Amino acid sequence: MRIGTTLTNYTINKQKGFQGASGTFTGLLNDIAVACKRISDLVNKGDLVGVLGAAESENVQGEQQKKLDVISNDLMIEALQHNGHIAGLASEEMDTIYHLPEGAQRGNYLVLCDPLDGSSNIDVNVSVGTIFSILKAPEGVEKPTEADFLKPGTEQVAAGYCLYGPATILVLTTGDGVSMFTLNRDFGEFLLTREDVRVPEETAEFAINMSYRRHWDAPIERYIAECLEGEQGVRGKNFNMRWIASMVAEVHRILTRGGIFMYPADAKIRASGKAGKLRLMYEANPMAMLIEQAGGAATTGRQRMLEVEPDELHQRVPVILGSRSEVERVASYHDEAAAD
Ligand code: AHG
Ligand code: MN
Ligand code: MN
Repeated sequence: MRIGTTLTNYTINKQKGFQGASGTFTGLLNDIAVACKRISDLVNKGDLVGVLGAAESENVQGEQQKKLDVISNDLMIEALQHNGHIAGLASEEMDTIYHLPEGAQRGNYLVLCDPLDGSSNIDVNVSVGTIFSILKAPEGVEKPTEADFLKPGTEQVAAGYCLYGPATILVLTTGDGVSMFTLNRDFGEFLLTREDVRVPEETAEFAINMSYRRHWDAPIERYIAECLEGEQGVRGKNFNMRWIASMVAEVHRILTRGGIFMYPADAKIRASGKAGKLRLMYEANPMAMLIEQAGGAATTGRQRMLEVEPDELHQRVPVILGSRSEVERVASYHDEAAAD
């Protein structure tokens, strides 16, 4: 499609390819884009509008919420609930699924989101983002149940994120490649700036929180140790490390210049009764779809991420994603360790 075309025009044109398309999907993406523009505006103004700092609440996962976590969640609800494009919404910041108000017009999509990813970076003016995953609601369902949301990532009809960095960039897949749209603040439109994004295969960059090293499992320890050996080691090249602590920003870097991102399970995470840190439905699945659509790979270490059968909304998983050959190498180290 023509570089510079608006996101709205892009989705209208995509929908033309589908027989019987009603325009609901275009409307839904427009709703999400509106929420993202409003969040972007607040992130951009920061202290000027009093949105930085902690809220006086914790989310369902016992994490201290930031004011902007709460506000972003409210903005997603507001943008989506009255337009007749969705049947329900689930978010990292809400205990249970959100039911539309009585009388609100319903649509045939379900949205899952992480309204503000990388909250620990808000107060220090480092990139944060919004992640979204879109599923089809079951036919004829007026009031979806949690079970309707619990679908593996392969069922996603679209996924994306909006990165609030030096530029605000919305990255989208509808299942046939990945496109990027940059927000032109002068007239408030997302404009197509990159199409057919591919994860570069050649990479020498890894992202992991090294401070947890003493808790890692053997396959992760082995992979990182080999990277750190550099030219002298088995990999025969030097590696660089990045850790932004905003998954959105890490995935954006990988889509742009390759690399691998890992938030594995480790002994400390397991001791707290969890299977990982990142959430399957709001973080891992949408990012896995984007990365696969760009030619990369995403795994838990033992299983393709998109094939994980979810059993709860706030389920956590180990996440390894990025350039295909690196991800496959880490997965093979897991397989070898399991076979021992
Ligand atoms: P969230 O702000 O939505 O809770 O997610 C933060 C996530 C992810 O974006 C990032 O990669 C990771 O947490 C950072 O965790 P550490 O602070 O343990 O490095
Ligand atoms: Mn997050
Ligand atoms: Mn979040």
